Amino acid sequence: MAAFDPMGASKLQVLLMTVAVAMFFLSGEVEANSYNLRPNYYSGKCGKYDVESIIYNEIAKAFQQDNGVAPGLVRMAFHDCFVRGCDASLLLDIPNSEKTATINLGLRASAFNAIDAAKTAVESVCPGVVSCADVLQYATRDSVLLTKGKGWTVYGGRRDGTVSNAADPPNNLPVPTMTPTQMIPLFAGKGLSADDLVALSGSHTIGIAHCIFVNPRIYGNNTDPTIPADFLASLKSQCPADSVTTNPPVGAPINLDRVSPTKFDSQYFQNIIDRKGLLTSDQSLLDDSRTRGAVYKNSGNFFNSEFGRAMQAMAGIGVLTGNEGQIRTNCRAVNP
Ligand code: HEM
Repeated sequence: MAAFDPMGASKLQVLLMTVAVAMFFLSGEVEANSYNLRPNYYSGKCGKYDVESIIYNEIAKAFQQDNGVAPGLVRMAFHDCFVRGCDASLLLDIPNSEKTATINLGLRASAFNAIDAAKTAVESVCPGVVSCADVLQYATRDSVLLTKGKGWTVYGGRRDGTVSNAADPPNNLPVPTMTPTQMIPLFAGKGLSADDLVALSGSHTIGIAHCIFVNPRIYGNNTDPTIPADFLASLKSQCPADSVTTNPPVGAPINLDRVSPTKFDSQYFQNIIDRKGLLTSDQSLLDDSRTRGAVYKNSGNFFNSEFGRAMQAMAGIGVLTGNEGQIRTNCRAVNP
């Protein structure tokens, strides 16, 4: 029997390591995440064109015309990813599609139009390569940058779905009367943690809500007794008892973060700590031991990087890759 040769063993190990590293790089899976998506996915796929910059420029143009495009897009990314995964099924304009579900009627036309503009711009230089699902994810990151938040690396390589059904959103999206007891399992069902729930709820640092979602907390038998008196008075002045509370929401909206409504900062969490969160789903994050710690943690600089981390997790839900789905030419229609 050959004696154990430590020198020989280490040479073998080095050789095996070298082969493994070479195979890793040759496989093209460099830095692929667990969803099989990659950073800089489109780099080199459109010749000299920089897909992420083209998208950014279009979103910036739309944002300059209407800064509501930013919260509109961030909310759209959420409503897309939670329903059939991040496959742009939300963007389809087909009969009885997700868009027609009541919970989606408040999504902003300007945000859908911004996606069309970005997609048209990339199609014009690089047809049939960039998915609508990826355009939406890049546009969401850009929206956070444009509202002075910190960006994150968007992993690309998603493909577009071909199915969109109005029955799906109500079964997959949370409603504003929920508390962590309902939201934690809902997010867990999408592979997201309680920490993800808290960080992602931080999106409510920008954008608006309608009185229909606020009035149940401030009038009648179910008035939330923990709302500070000054905040209650101010909410009542913005949302009178007789405000129109139809869904789809109409009427004057109210800022989700009333301190810095157009800035992507951690103020949302400070509001919650001050018991000045707008929705039950926001304020209740402070009252549950599974989410309270993260509310405090996110109320400082930690939120900047934590939000991007959580968005990367959300952006991996149910993605289609490889030969699944298709690359739509028009984000509103399945390819003929
Ligand atoms: C956790 C449970 C959540 C609930 C119950 C919830 C509910 C709501 C409601 C009721 C509105 C107001 C809609 C309106 O009145 O038109 C809203 C707005 C918004 N939500 Fe959420 N949301 C949740 C999580 C999230 C997540 C995870 C994101 C993104 C990652 C997000 C992003 C937004 C944004 C940006 C707005 C403002 C939209 C605009 O101004 O157009 N929300 N949300």
